[in-house]
Amino acid sequence: MKKTVMMSLLIGASLFATNYSKVITHPDASKMIEKDLLAPPKVFIMPAGCITKDPDAIARGKYIFNNLNGKKAKKNPPAGLSRKTKNGKPKQYGNCVACHNIEGAKGAGNIGPDLTNYKENFIDSGGRDHQFVFQKIADARIDNPKTHMTINLTTKLFTPREICDIASYIVAPK
Ligand code: HEC
Repeated sequence: MKKTVMMSLLIGASLFATNYSKVITHPDASKMIEKDLLAPPKVFIMPAGCITKDPDAIARGKYIFNNLNGKKAKKNPPAGLSRKTKNGKPKQYGNCVACHNIEGAKGAGNIGPDLTNYKENFIDSGGRDHQFVFQKIADARIDNPKTHMTINLTTKLFTPREICDIASYIVAPK
């Protein structure tokens, strides 16, 4: 049945020599492509009270660091973090563990530096400060324009508070 329809369509088309250039439209996709382009690198100043010793914030940071999204997350998220966004979609987490090792990480990747003992090795040594950590997670391109790290605040993937939670976890003594 389908074949017959197709055949008659083809015959019909050739009989009337349809000009397909008028039928097929070519919409201008440049606006769509522009929308998907990454916004330029942006400097962010760490908000006051960002890095905290609040165990709930550190627990949220740890959870975001080690999970990809709320649907696949194994344990229930800690207080103040949900599996779903307000629109009911699975909440996107950081999955930082895909590239970074850290205390207790399972199956950590090694594309990024090992963040184990971060406080001692990077902060107490004077090599890094909290503003650097916040900016690195917010928009890593300020530190390295060719970074392979995900861009989190410029893209609004995370809120400043969530970035503070992750940063609090990284710099916390473990
Ligand atoms: C696709 C791989 C990748 C992912 C995912 C990733 N990173 Fe990174 N990260 C890197 C690389 C590579 C570097 C080294 C510097 C650079 O190239 O930007 C880095 C550097 C860092 C640094 C700076 C370490 C230093 O030198 O002091 C921090 C902090 C950091 N990442 C945290 C995170 C956090 C938190 C997440 C999750 C939200 C994350 N990263 C996700 C690849 C990644």
